[in-house]
Amino acid sequence: MQRIVNRHQLNMPKLGLGTWPMLGDECTRAVVQALELGYRHIDTAAAYNNEAAVGDALVQSTVPREQIHVTSKVWWDQLSPERMRASFDNTLRALRSDYVDLFLIHWPTQDWDLARTLETLVSFKEEGRARAIGVANFPLALVREVVEVMQVPLAAMQVEYHVALSQAKLLDFARQHDMALIAYSPLARNKVSEMPEIQQIAARHGVQPTQVALKWLIEQEQVAAVPKASGKANQLANLASLDVPLDDEDRALIAQLPKNIRIVSPAFAPAWDAE
Ligand SMILES: NC(=O)c1ccc[n+]([C@@H]2O[C@H](COP(=O)([O-])OP(=O)(O)OC[C@H]3O[C@@H](n4cnc5c(N)ncnc54)[C@H](OP(=O)(O)O)[C@@H]3O)[C@@H](O)[C@H]2O)c1
Repeated sequence: MQRIVNRHQLNMPKLGLGTWPMLGDECTRAVVQALELGYRHIDTAAAYNNEAAVGDALVQSTVPREQIHVTSKVWWDQLSPERMRASFDNTLRALRSDYVDLFLIHWPTQDWDLARTLETLVSFKEEGRARAIGVANFPLALVREVVEVMQVPLAAMQVEYHVALSQAKLLDFARQHDMALIAYSPLARNKVSEMPEIQQIAARHGVQPTQVALKWLIEQEQVAAVPKASGKANQLANLASLDVPLDDEDRALIAQLPKNIRIVSPAFAPAWDAE
């Protein structure tokens, strides 16, 4: 599978498996199965309460740990250096690994000492316990401050991105700085299946609308995606999206969709448009 490799020590398959909101045995089974089918990129987080379930899957799977890219994240109320270190230790313990491949700050907050939080994140990378580091849900102004002003070597940003939400400015920024952009909720929680334009493109190629939506993301330079799928059929269908042949006519149709449908915007979300 195509990978994103960059100078910030990232080496990540473009298609991964999202694990929220799976818990316990359901999550372990889904991850073991995904690894059997060929997935080599798993997305988890402390806040998902499923890192131990993912850890069980990593142990049970016949795929060696070093062939699997694992991303995890620290929650926004754990961003003081002490709490962050404790959270990160828990993450590694739960995953039963001595490193993660990518470690992200899950959400920004206003109640933090940004410089110390970032220093702590960088220390995980320096210790070799986070192979690469990044942020999720940071608006452009904040990611710019972190990367350009504070010069933190971020390998990736993870944000909601799909056919009905533009992330053009963040993507430009990511490309300028050799960062990956990991699309979460890449199927817009399966709303893409109800979009007539996506259905039309899918019918033309004899594939599923979800496959069109995923291929549109994955074919973009520096873009990865982590669709969540619990059952074998959806996991396989999502992997097979890599083979969907989109053409310029399809891309033009997708470009005309409304691009302001944001699904994930909790009360603690930042002002998304801060540039
Ligand atoms: N950083 C963040 O703040 C953040 C926020 C949200 C999500 N995430 C990450 O991103 C991952 C994915 O996002 P998401 O779960 O919000 O949304 P999503 O991946 O867009 O959609 C998941 C939904 O689509 C269904 N689905 C998957 N493949 C399908 C297929 N081929 N055909 C039909 N339905 C299909 C799944 O059902 P089944 O399970 O039944 O297959 C599930 O209900 C999460 O699991 C999490 O790891 C990160």
